[in-house]
Amino acid sequence: MILYVLFDTANIILQKNERKQKMTTIETIRTRRSVREFTDENLTPEQINLLKEIALRSPSSRNLDPWRFFFVQSPALLKELAKAKISGSSLIDGAKLAVVVGGDENISDVWTEDCSIASILLQLAAQTMGLGSCWVQIRNRNSQNCSSEDFVRNLLEIPKNIRICSIIAIGNPAEKRAPLEFSELDFKKIKDF
Ligand SMILES: Cc1cc2nc3c(=O)[nH]c(=O)nc-3n(C[C@H](O)[C@H](O)[C@H](O)COP(=O)(O)O)c2cc1C
Repeated sequence: MILYVLFDTANIILQKNERKQKMTTIETIRTRRSVREFTDENLTPEQINLLKEIALRSPSSRNLDPWRFFFVQSPALLKELAKAKISGSSLIDGAKLAVVVGGDENISDVWTEDCSIASILLQLAAQTMGLGSCWVQIRNRNSQNCSSEDFVRNLLEIPKNIRICSIIAIGNPAEKRAPLEFSELDFKKIKDF
């Protein structure tokens, strides 16, 4: 009898935790905003390892996993990466980590989609870890003298078959941005059938 009660209580706690976990994902999505200002605090090795794990857990078309992730923590390289675009990339200089998300176009013709999924997963993971992040668009953008893709590839000596989708800049947030209000969501963009 005692064993049965204990088992039942453990089960209820497990179910409650599972519900809490699901809410956490929704809350993460609700509260995420782009963060472009970061504190001087470094990321811990545990945080970096967790982000690496999340990146490699991204789903990909036909399970081909065409992505390649370049985890940049060197302050000198972060300073250079900040010049990858004429505008919209300078925030990388203040970040503590930049994850360059690339995909091998010889492996998959939908590397863009696969890389985009990995990019947003990294942002959501960062959010749940209390970190801030911002997506910096690289594909189809230009630096001062060449395409942003070539700029990043030259800097990190990445081969030409690896196309560059984005750079996800991550750090401890130095700005607090309010979540979008529910009333701001444009439900006209959704059509029910
Ligand atoms: C595909 C994509 C490309 C983006 N490129 C940049 C960028 O190059 N530089 C930047 O500062 N923000 C960039 N952002 C961030 C957007 O400006 C931001 O997500 C948008 O303004 C909505 O704000 P929120 O993220 O705070 O909800 C990008 C976001 C996405 C999804």
